Amino acid sequence: MAKRKKIALVGAGNIGGELASIAARKELGDVVLLDIPDKVGVAKGKALDICQALALENIDANILGTSDYADIAGAEVVIVTAGVPRKPGMSRDDLLTINLKIIRSVAAGIKANAPDAFVIVISNPVDAMVDAMQKATGFPASRVFGMAGVLDAARFQHFLALELNVSPKEISALVLGNHGDLMVPTVSYCTVNGIPVTQLIAADKLDAIVERTKAGGGEIVGLMGTSAYVAPASAGIAMAASILLDQKRLLPCVAKCNGEYGINDLYIGVPVVVGAGGVEKIVEVTLNDNEKKLMAASADKVREQIEASARL
Ligand SMILES: NC(=O)c1ccc[n+]([C@@H]2O[C@H](COP(=O)([O-])OP(=O)(O)OC[C@H]3O[C@@H](n4cnc5c(N)ncnc54)[C@H](O)[C@@H]3O)[C@@H](O)[C@H]2O)c1
Repeated sequence: MAKRKKIALVGAGNIGGELASIAARKELGDVVLLDIPDKVGVAKGKALDICQALALENIDANILGTSDYADIAGAEVVIVTAGVPRKPGMSRDDLLTINLKIIRSVAAGIKANAPDAFVIVISNPVDAMVDAMQKATGFPASRVFGMAGVLDAARFQHFLALELNVSPKEISALVLGNHGDLMVPTVSYCTVNGIPVTQLIAADKLDAIVERTKAGGGEIVGLMGTSAYVAPASAGIAMAASILLDQKRLLPCVAKCNGEYGINDLYIGVPVVVGAGGVEKIVEVTLNDNEKKLMAASADKVREQIEASARL
């Protein structure tokens, strides 16, 4: 009998709790929900609450709330949401200084206790945080990557579905670049059951949808006073499941480019085949001139963040 897999979640806040709930409900494995000692009650409480729901729903998964890194030993996948989220009026960049310190300390805990794990970083600004995680753990880039494009594409998909009044299932959308105002929703690769979206939506409407997608996170921060957490957790689980079940999904992820898209030695959102080997392949697609320009600007932005991180 195959042993149950183990998924460790570092950060038991809004996204962490939601991740635990989805991972368990999908029976991906047992879950460890870790937070700082001051918040261990929250981690333990969420673990109990979800486990009691699982009992009602006839689902087999254990969830452990803890602040002890020894408990993440043996985890195949670690998803990191530790850090602070945005408040209204803040940009993701404003989180850099505080979250960088947190990510470096989390990296030490992962390196010491789950040295063979795949690490998916969600904390913002995610492109720079993934870079910091990889540098601090020293893990190969195939095992350390970030979540952004899956969420941004889902937002794009949802807004397109609303406009067209069709099921979002029919819509395939791709968002590349950094996770911020300079992200690159690639309209040229956006289709509705194979039909280019440009044939279905007028250019001005499409532009408005692209802009709403770019500001999609901020729209929710403005409404709720804190970051989105349901869709971000779904996106994180899609990536984790693709590793754990070797699904080989093609997902936009924050992965380290080494020449792809003319970008060298830099983490940025690109299409990735995600499987049991983690980042198994970065897929290069042809971009039009405008998309190339946007991708280069996006890469400059990430480089800036990483240079700022190096000074901290
Ligand atoms: N990549 C994306 O697409 C995306 C989307 C939404 C939110 N985010 C980011 O994800 C992060 C988490 O968001 P949230 O809404 O869950 O925030 P939250 O405040 O609800 O939860 C964060 C948790 O991290 C914990 N934490 C802080 N320092 C820690 C440490 N050293 N070790 C372990 N845990 C620690 C906090 O105690 C808190 O419980 C934020 O940085 C947010 O900006 C990213």
